[in-house]
Amino acid sequence: MSNTVDNSKRRFLTTAASVVVGSAGAAAIAVPFVASMLPSAKAKAAGAPVEVDISKLQPGQRITPEWRGKPVWILRRTPETLGNLASLDAQLRDPNSENTDQQPDYCQNSTRSIREEIIVLVGICTHLGCSPTHRPELAPEDLGPEWKGGFFCPCHGSKFDLAGRVYKGVPAPINLEVPPYHFLGDNIIIIGKDAQGAA
Ligand code: FES
Repeated sequence: MSNTVDNSKRRFLTTAASVVVGSAGAAAIAVPFVASMLPSAKAKAAGAPVEVDISKLQPGQRITPEWRGKPVWILRRTPETLGNLASLDAQLRDPNSENTDQQPDYCQNSTRSIREEIIVLVGICTHLGCSPTHRPELAPEDLGPEWKGGFFCPCHGSKFDLAGRVYKGVPAPINLEVPPYHFLGDNIIIIGKDAQGAA
């Protein structure tokens, strides 16, 4: 489980790992190691749920665990962020999350979440798969005076709010995906499975 604060700009590559073997000797050494890794790799590819501790996540902060080879953002939203969400509706393509492919039914609500302060999103742009950057600041020069914080995709300029809802007039056609998840107690999130065990 990778569980680090990550605000960096990057393109996410879905290929998890590659092994380059330069000689027969190296291959002989590498095979047992690779063989021992196979069950884990298979489990990941099959979408084994990922457990994440959010006890240290402060308001406004984000962590990026990985699930099914994809980055997942877990962000603790501030009261100000939550207060701004409704005011953005007119600027958004699908403010009410009517595309039901993009979130489980228990997150088809005004905050796209189970607990309103915690948003969980697959961090991959719905245009061509870049990983957008987290831009929580208000009205930065490059995003304009109306910007209330959100995610900006540097590849072709798509914009999403802090619920992962896509703005109108950008290349990305649909909202960011909310994966299946549920809470275990106050501070543990299980990504990849809902409370009934459905993936
Ligand atoms: S991949 Fe994000 S805008 Fe094109």
